Amino acid sequence: MTVRGWVATTRSSGKIAFLVMRDGSGLLQCVISKKDVAPGVWEAFQSLTQEASVAVTGAVRADARAPGGYELLATDLVLLGASPEFPISPKEHGTTFLFEHRHLWLRSRRQVAIARVRHEVVQAIRDFFHQRGFTLVDTPILTGAIGEEAGNLFATDYFDLGKAYLAQTGQLYVEAAAAALGKVYCFGPTFRAEKSKTRRHLTEFWMVEPEVAFNDSNDNMRLQEEFVSYVVGRALDARRAELRELERDTSPLERVQAPFPRISYSDAVARLNALGSDIRWGSDLGGDDETLLAKEYDRPVFVFNYPREVKAFYMKENPDDPRTVLNNDCLAPEGYGEIIGGSQREDDHDRLLARIEAQGLDPASYGWYLDLRKYGTFVHSGFGLGVERTVAWICGIPHIREAIAFPRQIHRLHP
Ligand code: 4AD
Ligand code: MG
Repeated sequence: MTVRGWVATTRSSGKIAFLVMRDGSGLLQCVISKKDVAPGVWEAFQSLTQEASVAVTGAVRADARAPGGYELLATDLVLLGASPEFPISPKEHGTTFLFEHRHLWLRSRRQVAIARVRHEVVQAIRDFFHQRGFTLVDTPILTGAIGEEAGNLFATDYFDLGKAYLAQTGQLYVEAAAAALGKVYCFGPTFRAEKSKTRRHLTEFWMVEPEVAFNDSNDNMRLQEEFVSYVVGRALDARRAELRELERDTSPLERVQAPFPRISYSDAVARLNALGSDIRWGSDLGGDDETLLAKEYDRPVFVFNYPREVKAFYMKENPDDPRTVLNNDCLAPEGYGEIIGGSQREDDHDRLLARIEAQGLDPASYGWYLDLRKYGTFVHSGFGLGVERTVAWICGIPHIREAIAFPRQIHRLHP
């Protein structure tokens, strides 16, 4: 057979030579014996360099010692594309260098493993909601209303209609769709002009956002724990080899089973103070607080009912304590922090309008959204899970920028 691919490694003893090639599906060791091939073929082998593309022809035989369990006894080798001085050698490179060469770095075993885990996570997300009767609704990326907050918007001129914003979320639109279809989700890229250079922030990231008619905040958390357990379980079942390649200790992932522990924001603040944090009631949990709190549990934890002043305008006021809202964050273990933000939505027209005004948003842009509270308002809840944070956590990689093929950050637009 003939196999086409790229040169991973070569070595030669003078009489016999080995070529390990990769084609995206795996690795294949090719053996070339000088006495068995034409001189031109032997010379072609000698000229091979890392990442040259080649077509190798020969007979396949099983060999337990070879990577992948098979070997190709080569009779012919054709150089398809030379690769003089491939910039990424097996030696160590700095992170900046690697991200500048991201288009080539993607070929490394580690990056291939991460891409495969990401693929599994995305497929698991789609399967989970499909199996549960959710309808996918694709929401716009160019939006006229601010979805989350005014602070980190990308804006662009939109013909005669003023500014359009790149979507921070699809949530407002899936709320409308939930009244049509009951259980819906959107899944796509979202944009935030994050000035922060943390290991948890990108300016473009993928988010899946389910929205369910007649779910309250408790139902919402139940859906989240089943969902996260399913996604992690799928990665463990289907991507063992990739997680091994990444040297991921999978025992913390095996413990990710519903139900997840729940702690109210107020209790979390008290707990954090006891653990040495100086957080005061009323401020949002910072990254360090999230890490500290999550360390107390052996699986993801829900923190619920945050102060409304630190959360988005659309969250439902808590009838038992109007200083707070009926929301939750889901914090991943091992220092990965918030992977989900969710809430029950404010379904009272006048309260919602008051929140829009209080946050300095333009009520004129939210007429359609307020209509949902005018025509058959309904209890409903939903959440958003960030794909890159989830993939980074499952892979056990330190920074989410490796969890997407071409990350967008404040200082990075190329490649
Ligand atoms: O908590 P957030 O802002 O919630 C929303 O956008 C809601 N509209 C979701 C909803 O209820 N439908 O973001 C949700 C998740 C976060 O928990 C995090 O995983 C991820 O999106 N996320 C980011 N991921 C990478 N980079 C960023 N800058 C992120 N901002 C949020
Ligand atoms: Mg959040």
